[in-house]
Amino acid sequence: MKISIGIITVSDRCSRGEKKDESGPVIKAVVKNLGKIVKYKIVPDEKRLISKTIKEMVDCLKIDLVLTTGGTGLSSRDNTPEATRDVIEKEAFGFGEVMRGESFKITPNAILSRATAGTRKESLIINLPGSPKGVKECLELILPTLPHAIDILKGRGEEGKAGLERKEKQNKGL
Ligand code: MTE
Repeated sequence: MKISIGIITVSDRCSRGEKKDESGPVIKAVVKNLGKIVKYKIVPDEKRLISKTIKEMVDCLKIDLVLTTGGTGLSSRDNTPEATRDVIEKEAFGFGEVMRGESFKITPNAILSRATAGTRKESLIINLPGSPKGVKECLELILPTLPHAIDILKGRGEEGKAGLERKEKQNKGL
């Protein structure tokens, strides 16, 4: 089954039209064989607005994978990890750990990204850094894991199947 993908570019300047979004198109190019992009939005670095946009994509549009770019750094306007944490149910630390760890070998500045990831309902939300270079490097690192992660969330993976069987047995009182 094709994965539905939502992209959120988080940037004050892009949202005001002062800067062209280059990172959203990089995401589109990298994920083109992974699934179908069903929604693409540019939002300012406003925590509540970022959370609201993630919730809309997950709760209303039932998007499987939401990828954000930008707002993961240390400046006062970098709010994406906090906005993400406000709406996820389970934090998936591995994505940020691998992105920082592997990217650090390319650029020491990778340590400055506070990107996180997590699940909400049956969807996976992942933060990526803001620069087109950072987006490409990080997304390519985690790309191979994504179909399996989505399968598990949808109850289609082996772990998912086992879980469903367990639930069925419980329901039958076995
Ligand atoms: N990760 C990779 N792989 N490549 C990069 O060039 N840039 C870093 C970091 N992560 C970078 C990277 C820099 S310079 C910053 S400031 C942080 O991501 C945070 O970026 P953001 O605030 O635009 O999200």
